[in-house]
Amino acid sequence: MTQRPSTSRRVVLAAQAVGRPTQATFRVEEVALPPLLEGHVLTRTLCCSADPGTRSRLSSGASYAPPLRIGDPIDGFAVGEVIESANPRFVIGDIVASGGGWAEHAIFPGRGYIQKIPHKRLPLSYWIGVLGVPGMTAWFGLKRVAAMKPGDRVLVTSAAGPVGATAAQIARSLGASRVVGTASGADKAAWLRDEARLDVIVDYKTTTDLIADLKAASPDGYDVLFDNVGNAMIDSVIPLLRPGGRIVISGQLADYNAAAADVPGITNTRYFIASRLRMEGLVVFDDLKGFPAAQEELGDMIERGEVKVREHRYKGLGSAPQAFIDLFASDSFGRRIIEIGGETG
Ligand SMILES: NC(=O)c1ccc[n+]([C@@H]2O[C@H](COP(=O)([O-])OP(=O)(O)OC[C@H]3O[C@@H](n4cnc5c(N)ncnc54)[C@H](OP(=O)(O)O)[C@@H]3O)[C@@H](O)[C@H]2O)c1
Repeated sequence: MTQRPSTSRRVVLAAQAVGRPTQATFRVEEVALPPLLEGHVLTRTLCCSADPGTRSRLSSGASYAPPLRIGDPIDGFAVGEVIESANPRFVIGDIVASGGGWAEHAIFPGRGYIQKIPHKRLPLSYWIGVLGVPGMTAWFGLKRVAAMKPGDRVLVTSAAGPVGATAAQIARSLGASRVVGTASGADKAAWLRDEARLDVIVDYKTTTDLIADLKAASPDGYDVLFDNVGNAMIDSVIPLLRPGGRIVISGQLADYNAAAADVPGITNTRYFIASRLRMEGLVVFDDLKGFPAAQEELGDMIERGEVKVREHRYKGLGSAPQAFIDLFASDSFGRRIIEIGGETG
């Protein structure tokens, strides 16, 4: 049985981020682990993840979650083993996925996101990746928000990321007639073409004419834009949408590090009238009740080889800031998993 330590290390916000986050944005500290109150659960972290959505909490600005204050622990998803429980729903030895954050240990306060991992057929890290929030965002974004139908032509931006790659492959499995992705660099393009089986990959960084390339990639246009990138990309794609086209606003990677005044606007709204377009965002936790059934179906797709998973692993709590910085400034790709305390697949 794992011993309960008296102290634990965690990563906290050292300075608000301006533009891209740096090492100076974060600091590691050691804190005492308090006794558990009723309903609390103490977990030992096995692994945690770096999530782009955390960026919006590192400085003040519009987000559905409030900004962190200096000294606040960095939250994020984690897989942990229960080592002490004051909650009848959890026993020592349970493996859970939760918002445990970048920490060696986490106390779940009895409310919020936590899920017992129901089986070990797939790597435990998948429960904070393809079967966790990124995968569920892809799933509900396509199935509920876009109401994707067989035959749809689907464009996914940041297609090599955990959300995008899952969305593109689910689209293929659901019978999309064309699946196109945007991504930068030859390695991502090769993986998306050879492993994830996308039809065309457009490199938005090297192209001289993004709109012409997106048009050539699907000459009949697109029924669904699953967007992870932000306003400039959406504005470029709107004229390429077919009648009844749907835009899913999943994330805004190109806009997270920009000052509010520098975020571009969307101007092509006239197409919404003639083409009867629809644009809708999602917060994946609204679909929490549907996670178990979706995870079951998506897990089957993974086991059948229809959905391929890519991870990029980091070792030790101290590597969490670098994993996060790399989200915005590295050619490496795949779900960024920080291994902290044990075997996760
Ligand atoms: N709505 C929800 O409930 C929900 C939940 C989870 C995640 N999300 C969102 O889903 C999106 C994707 O998340 P993810 O975890 O899969 O991350 P991700 O796509 O792996 O994010 C990193 C990638 O973003 C791209 N990128 C970085 N900076 C960019 C820029 N300035 N312009 C364009 N692309 C840039 C880069 O890929 P390329 O250069 O190859 O494009 C980079 O490798 C994020 O916006 C995230 O916030 C939403």
